[in-house]
Amino acid sequence: MHRFWTTILAFVFLLTLCQHQASASKEYTIGFSQCTTSDYWRQTMQRLMEIELSFYPDMNLIIKDAQDDSDLQITQIEALLESGIDLLIISPNQSEPITPIVEKVYQMGIPVIVIDRKVNTDQYSAYIGGNNYKIGLEAGRYAAKLLNGSGKIIEIRGLDGSSPAIERRKGFTEILAGYPNMEIVYSESGQWNWDGARRVMEQVIQEGIDFDLVFGYNDVMAKEAYEVKETYQPGKPAYFLGIDGLPGDQGGLQAVIDGKLDATFYYPTGGEKAIQIAHKILNDLPYERENILETIVIDSTNAEVLKLQTDQVELLQQKIEAQRSVLDIQISKYQTQRLILIFTIVLLALIVILVFLIFNAFRNKKLANLKLEAKNAKIEKQNVAIKEQRDKLVEVTQQLEEATQTKLRFFTNISHEFRTPLTLITGPLENLMHSENFSAEQQRQFKLMHRSSLRLLRLVNQLMDFRKLENKQMKLIASELDLIDFLKEKEESFAYLAEKKNIDFQFRTEIERQAIWIDRDKLDKVFFNLLSNAFKFTPNNGKISLLVKKPKAALNKLFEKEIEIEIRDFGEGIDEKYVGRIFDRFFQAEKSHHFKGTGLGLSLSKEFVEMHQGQIRLESQVGQGTTFTIILPLGKEHLKQEQVADTDTAYEPNIDAEEPLSRGKNSQRQTDIQPASGQNKPLILVVEDVADVREYVRTCLGDQHKILEAEDGES
Ligand code: FRU
Repeated sequence: MHRFWTTILAFVFLLTLCQHQASASKEYTIGFSQCTTSDYWRQTMQRLMEIELSFYPDMNLIIKDAQDDSDLQITQIEALLESGIDLLIISPNQSEPITPIVEKVYQMGIPVIVIDRKVNTDQYSAYIGGNNYKIGLEAGRYAAKLLNGSGKIIEIRGLDGSSPAIERRKGFTEILAGYPNMEIVYSESGQWNWDGARRVMEQVIQEGIDFDLVFGYNDVMAKEAYEVKETYQPGKPAYFLGIDGLPGDQGGLQAVIDGKLDATFYYPTGGEKAIQIAHKILNDLPYERENILETIVIDSTNAEVLKLQTDQVELLQQKIEAQRSVLDIQISKYQTQRLILIFTIVLLALIVILVFLIFNAFRNKKLANLKLEAKNAKIEKQNVAIKEQRDKLVEVTQQLEEATQTKLRFFTNISHEFRTPLTLITGPLENLMHSENFSAEQQRQFKLMHRSSLRLLRLVNQLMDFRKLENKQMKLIASELDLIDFLKEKEESFAYLAEKKNIDFQFRTEIERQAIWIDRDKLDKVFFNLLSNAFKFTPNNGKISLLVKKPKAALNKLFEKEIEIEIRDFGEGIDEKYVGRIFDRFFQAEKSHHFKGTGLGLSLSKEFVEMHQGQIRLESQVGQGTTFTIILPLGKEHLKQEQVADTDTAYEPNIDAEEPLSRGKNSQRQTDIQPASGQNKPLILVVEDVADVREYVRTCLGDQHKILEAEDGES
């Protein structure tokens, strides 16, 4: 995309450059400060300028009308300078006040062309104008001729302070000086305007001044004087002389033909000349600095001929103007067409670029697609391979799982097979332990053997429990009992060990009684496991506490209240890194002797507590000791119907006691059996599939009982 915009920008830049090159020739702005635009002579000057300008399309003319006001003319020139002009053409209203601004412009390096009226400085680039002094002389001579050297003259001068007025008077009076009988009876400025002339003439008539000739310094004033004379003194013979002699209806030439003026002196405007010189100056071409235009007298002798000629010129000028308009239309058309052409070219170029880009993008996309397809094919191939590998892995895993299960089943079965012989070892051992036929040393060894076989039996049971949990065959059968009594039993079970290791084992409770629904067998195992651990990791002379806290409102919505039981030892504690994993199945802490074993005990404990909807938590600090907290729900709302026992049948006597038979219930139970004799002996049916066990039971019951045996329930 970046490349696209760079191309576009480069293209547009090139086009702009071309466009600029096409119109490279510099355009010039010419300021034209005109003293007035209200009279025919000035309008003719501007018309000639415009006709001439049509040959120089690089020059633009800005015309400012000073309205016969010198101050306004200065302000307008300042404004032209501000706007930035390349050349100034000026026809000053008056010489004196306008001179400084002309000098200023000239000094700024802007060429100045003075036209018609002069300034009192030579700081200008060129001057164009008629020879006013000469016109004055001609007029004087012509008047003398008309009056035969004698007569009264009314002089209507131009604006005082304007150079033509001054110079014309100079020439005229110079001639009159040579004719003593020719007298200027009234001389006044008509300001170059018809209304100025009218005021002068009316004054003359009002004052009753007689006259033979009126000399107006331009045709406008002379014609107006004639009209005033005709109005007030019609038929009075008098000569009227004017200056300018312009062709056209309003011009002096027509006034001569019409007999209003006796003669006029051609005073060309110099408009076309001003433009020609401006062109030369701006283009550094050689030009004349002083351009004095020629004059001729126009009277009845040549007026008609001149009119023919000037009419011809007028026709030509009109044609030029018409052509100019046609040309202007053509130029404007051409410019529009050129614009359209440029626009079309730009559009075309853009389309080409766009097509190129689209093609490029399309090609790139196709390439990318091809690449993608190849990649996809490769990925597909890889996927197939991965799938195959995964299937194989699943298969192997399944096989492995099956093998593991087979092995586990095998171990479980074997372990299960251990139970009967172990029972048959522990039972007789208990009898031997308490027999008085053996020495103390022998009894001690029996006890050791008994403890070891119990331990073996416990491990086998744990393995069985684990398998049951694994196969989801482990069921919770809860019955209601008193928690404090239950825990007291635990305390008693460990009293012997506490005594032996001189451990301060305290059972404390914040409440006296607390009914609770629990699976006795499972919690037996839990507490045995936790207390065994506590005793295992508490050194001799240490301290262990078992604490029951007051029940409190449960966070769990399933039950209202819960109770916390804390087992705390002040032993070596567990390393922080093992705390989170202590309940994981088969977890064994490395190196340390801590929790070395099957790794099943704590995992089973957790499962059992959770089967009760309870929680088990652990806090431990190395060197400080370990606290296990068991939280159990109260009530039985959280239990399913099948988890609630009908009677307290679920209870099996616990083998998990460190010294169960030394002062335990079993020995007690044995002594509870009442001695019987002869026919009164109670009859006991022993149902047991293992013959050895039946045999052992029979031995235990002794000859105080009559015994019937059966291999199974059916028989
Ligand atoms: C026009 C005009 C002419 C005269 C010239 C003198 O404004 O009055 O008639 O010849 O100016 O500057």
